[in-house]
Amino acid sequence: MTARGLEGVIAGTTQLSSITDGVLTYRGITIDELTAHASYEEVVHLLLFGTLPTRAELDALRQRLSDYRPLPAGLLSILRGVPRDAVPIDTLRTAISALGFYEQRPSDTSREVSLDKAIRLIAQVPTIVAAIERLRRGLEPVSPPEATDTAHAFLLMLKGTAPDEVEVEAMNKILVLHADHEFNASTFAARVAAATLADMHAAVTAAVATLKGPLHGGANAAVMAMLQEIGDVEAVEPYVRAKLARKERVMGFGHRVYKHGDPRAKWLREMSRRLSERSGEPKWYQMSARMEEVMRRAKGLFPNVDFYAATVYHYLGIPSDLMTPVFATSRISGWTAHILEQYADNRLIRPRAEYTGPTSQPWVPIEERG
Ligand code: ACO
Repeated sequence: MTARGLEGVIAGTTQLSSITDGVLTYRGITIDELTAHASYEEVVHLLLFGTLPTRAELDALRQRLSDYRPLPAGLLSILRGVPRDAVPIDTLRTAISALGFYEQRPSDTSREVSLDKAIRLIAQVPTIVAAIERLRRGLEPVSPPEATDTAHAFLLMLKGTAPDEVEVEAMNKILVLHADHEFNASTFAARVAAATLADMHAAVTAAVATLKGPLHGGANAAVMAMLQEIGDVEAVEPYVRAKLARKERVMGFGHRVYKHGDPRAKWLREMSRRLSERSGEPKWYQMSARMEEVMRRAKGLFPNVDFYAATVYHYLGIPSDLMTPVFATSRISGWTAHILEQYADNRLIRPRAEYTGPTSQPWVPIEERG
């Protein structure tokens, strides 16, 4: 019996994150605890090294991330050569692939070298995403600030002005919430690539390519586009009902694993509500809340991580087509941790397929075909 889409298949082991009875944990700590208390840098340490850092370990990691944030000049030239209308997630995928050129040991998959590459990628992906946005708007990239955490550094590099405390807190929580998620599609793609002993940048490129799709990380952009198309709270219910009647999917709802709600969504809902109050445009949150209610009544479906993330990003000034790359600025920590875990106990991932095509077919010479 094949499992369509590998649903329910245990495809390997991991010590990084788990989803058990709807509860998400990173290395055994619930996402609720981490979102309430942790900095993203603490989560990065937890994923890469297996423990919450001591003060000295955290300071050392922060310093290393800060040192690694600037981009190689060659990569910036590549980014400057990208067409202005390129889709940002495509530019990010290309940039991560190209970043591998500047590694001293590009093909080395040893723990020591791969861990260093992982920390460099975790530091550099936010710099790349901010640079992509500025360059396509005709602005110069902002140099990474020194001695700041990822949330602050990213928002500053994106906008060119220092973010306020509320924005930094929201960004930090976004980074924590999106850092890892067991064998999701992009992480699984990274592990399949890593299992061939392809290098860290190759495996992360596979992950970014997989994140792009609207059934996975591309859903946040699709949610914002949908809200903009609807435009008004009163129009939400007829829009959703018409879409469901046409058997179309409402982006940001449903999940392969969570059938009774995604534990990350409540944090994002609350952030969206709080940011909406100071935004001057509360309707995006209000429309989302209405849509959640309608979807529950009409279809018994709950919002996933991408649903309220869309409006949170919007309130932080992140344009729709940059939302999936922003997801990657956090998920890079989970991807790289999974790649390291795969290398540490590797076996090629190569399943079988059930053949459903015709059998015993004769060879027909080309003159006789038609
Ligand atoms: N809108 C409407 N109906 C839906 C939705 C949705 N968003 N999601 C699932 N359904 C329905 C399906 O039509 C199907 O109904 P049926 O049994 O009457 O035919 C049923 O729920 C089961 O759907 P499947 O596609 O079998 O569920 P699967 O586990 O394969 O899909 C997925 C999970 C891809 C996330 C799906 O819920 C979906 O397409 N959601 C919208 C896209 C989205 O938000 N993706 C982001 C997920 S989170 C992340 O990846 C970061």
